[in-house]
Amino acid sequence: MRNKVVIGNWKMNQNFSEAEELAIDIAEGIEDLNLKTEVILCPPFPYLEMLTDLAEESPIGVGAQNCSEHENGAYTGEVSASMLASLDVNFCIIGHSERRKYFKETDAQLAEKVNQLLKHETCPVFCIGELIEERKAEKHFETVENQIKQGLFHLKSEEFESIVLAYEPVWAIGTGLTATPEQAQEMHAFIRKLIEAKYGTEIAYNTIILYGGSCNAKNALDLFSQPDVDGGLIGGASLKKEDFLAIIEAAETTQREG
Ligand code: PGA
Repeated sequence: MRNKVVIGNWKMNQNFSEAEELAIDIAEGIEDLNLKTEVILCPPFPYLEMLTDLAEESPIGVGAQNCSEHENGAYTGEVSASMLASLDVNFCIIGHSERRKYFKETDAQLAEKVNQLLKHETCPVFCIGELIEERKAEKHFETVENQIKQGLFHLKSEEFESIVLAYEPVWAIGTGLTATPEQAQEMHAFIRKLIEAKYGTEIAYNTIILYGGSCNAKNALDLFSQPDVDGGLIGGASLKKEDFLAIIEAAETTQREG
């Protein structure tokens, strides 16, 4: 049975002491709760080691926000999957729409990043989602299908089992416009069907598909109550302790039996 997952994507926010305070507050907020929900924090690169140290004694997972598609070498400013693995970083967001848009990351590059992470036993959190024009033109399913096929469908079954997906409609990210629970469910069910057609029922059933895009303390419960929504990738609301803890509580409340 899939457990719920809540991931905080801190993006390029906070100085070190603010980040440390937030991380400690969240770790303390969940430490005695014995949650089934997996909580993962994705800080900027320089703060990863602070988080992995904290994670040794608290029930938080740690993820990066990006990695290089290259193994190593003369790529100034880049961070490799093997470096992340050497810091015990177990997750990495890949293909966030901000990376696709501002850094012109292509599907081919994203597929290579996924390969690098799997090679170094780090779980990719692969983001997909349509632009507002694509939704208006009713091309949202086609867009998401292409992103998944080009970024992930080269993987073998045993590799695909390590993938977490995050459906983030671009028009909902940081805008305060959230997909309705029905819109999220419709897309998540579509994604699960695609996975089923390629990798079979069991893998499709077990794949975690998160929703992201203006998910907050108010709407999380409705979104996470949908049968194919397995939790959230949270941006803005993950920077506020109370909001993020409330979102984790919503995930725990909607945890499935079994
Ligand atoms: P948001 O961001 O929650 O601020 O909309 C989500 C994300 O970009 O992962």
